[in-house]
Amino acid sequence: MHRSVAAGGPSAADPEWFRTAVLYEVYVRSFGDANNDGTGDLDGITERLDYLAMLGVDGIWLTPFYPSPMADGGYDVADPRAVDPSFGDLAAFDRLVEAAHSHGLAVVVDVVPNHTSDRHEWFTAALAAGPGDPERDRYIFRPGKGADGAEPPNNWPSVFGGPAWHRAADGEWYLHLFAPEQPDLNWANPEVLADLEHTLRFWLDRGVDGFRIDVAHGMAKPADLPDLPEEVIEQQKRWAEMREREDLFAEHDADTPPSEGEGDAVVPSSDLDEAADPRWDNDAVHDIHRAVRRVLDRYPATMAVGEVWVRNDERLGRYVRPDELHQAFNFRLLMAKWNAADLRDAIEKSVASMAASGASPTWVLSNHDVPRHVTRYGGGAQGVRRARAGALLELALPGSAYLWQGDELGLADVDLPDEVLQDPAWERSGHTIRGRDGCRVPLPWSGDVPAFGFNAGTTSWLPQPPEWSALTAARQAEDPASMLSLYRTLLDLRREHPAISGGTVEWYGAPEGAMAFRRPGGLICAVNTGSTPVPLPPGEVLISSVPLAGGQLPSDAAVWLI
Ligand code: GLC
Repeated sequence: MHRSVAAGGPSAADPEWFRTAVLYEVYVRSFGDANNDGTGDLDGITERLDYLAMLGVDGIWLTPFYPSPMADGGYDVADPRAVDPSFGDLAAFDRLVEAAHSHGLAVVVDVVPNHTSDRHEWFTAALAAGPGDPERDRYIFRPGKGADGAEPPNNWPSVFGGPAWHRAADGEWYLHLFAPEQPDLNWANPEVLADLEHTLRFWLDRGVDGFRIDVAHGMAKPADLPDLPEEVIEQQKRWAEMREREDLFAEHDADTPPSEGEGDAVVPSSDLDEAADPRWDNDAVHDIHRAVRRVLDRYPATMAVGEVWVRNDERLGRYVRPDELHQAFNFRLLMAKWNAADLRDAIEKSVASMAASGASPTWVLSNHDVPRHVTRYGGGAQGVRRARAGALLELALPGSAYLWQGDELGLADVDLPDEVLQDPAWERSGHTIRGRDGCRVPLPWSGDVPAFGFNAGTTSWLPQPPEWSALTAARQAEDPASMLSLYRTLLDLRREHPAISGGTVEWYGAPEGAMAFRRPGGLICAVNTGSTPVPLPPGEVLISSVPLAGGQLPSDAAVWLI
């Protein structure tokens, strides 16, 4: 084990660094392209660490960079303990970790335990073997239903559309909750856990500070794989219709979110009665998280954050019991509409769901699976104005914030032409769901034309819109009114100012359409989502999302005061 490289990272000062950290999600394909092949790579991240240090985040979370046929952007992992040649090699990874630590940045990597790629050697062996052979037992193979077994074993839908079962050549079916190229592992087989433990130790020994656990509410399945109740199927259909109207985020009621995989994106398992959807959140999943924790406990100052799309607060809280994960993503803030009542409700529930275990809350406004919040908040100038206020809100909250690359540039989703779309949802839905590519377009760094310094060339795996010339990091760095400058100042204050402390929020009374809360250290954050100005709470203004005048907080604006 060589954690000495971590000495310069944030963990050196505080073994529980992650409880208040701001982590920056790097989508490896779309961050920086050092070898100019149009796809981002590990060296492209290493080259740009100065930017992240300048921005003021505490660490990075890297999306999967493992060997992968890229059927789902790398979340189809063919070998979890190696680097895909298009992203570099293990030496490039080691360089990145060392450079990140010397910049004081932690490194969190993604692990994908629910499924593998269909090109993983285990799956190749499983297909080559026959029904009943031990190689098949690492996955979930079943005979079909009907006279000749031509019907899938149950009625489960896949997150990306169509049934969650695919028929192998010899007639058995295998389960894939995501794409057919992502067969689900059988967590009842002890080899599967042993392999995950091996993977965790492999990266920990190379110096990583933590893991983001993909689909952490998946993995465990009920042994009898019962059918989904009809009402769940019906609800999914309704959400699919909403999604086609592209109003998923705008219209759904905060308490009836879409289920995992609904939306333009992979979004949430629901607060449908959790037991009603046997695909997710089965109790046995907690044994897996306890095993993960036992590995991490041997590596001081490391952490795991689960991607947990579970909306029932009590059940979400179970993932962060003291012997399980350190943190769970909580997507309430992301799912909330831009109105004070919904946002406040999301915050209250999020804080409450962590309270029983003492885990720190996490806050996410966007990630690689959902439309960017500038777009969700209405797009254009209005979307940007609200996103500025959203940044003040997110970064004022207790716990950790997970920024999505490009949040700090105020990027909106890109309207991509059909022929470049790569998200499996596009094909699987018969071209009715465009998928998540619009938020994954490579970042604009500098210059006036694509590829805007993403690489030295002019093209990238997803095309950048010409109007991003106004939004490059270089241009924004020199503009004190830019989104980037706002993020830099907020992150600076968050790091330095003693008022931004304390693990709770105390609510203030606020006029209709607005909200205000105080952190125990003294910071007051007020947000006005209404259409008319409201009086500022008393205090000295630290920063505001728009210029203030006359003691008023304008519409779609936020302020920090002490
Ligand atoms: C998670 C990832 C998403 C991926 C899915 C399947 O939800 O965030 O991008 O498609 O898992 O691995």
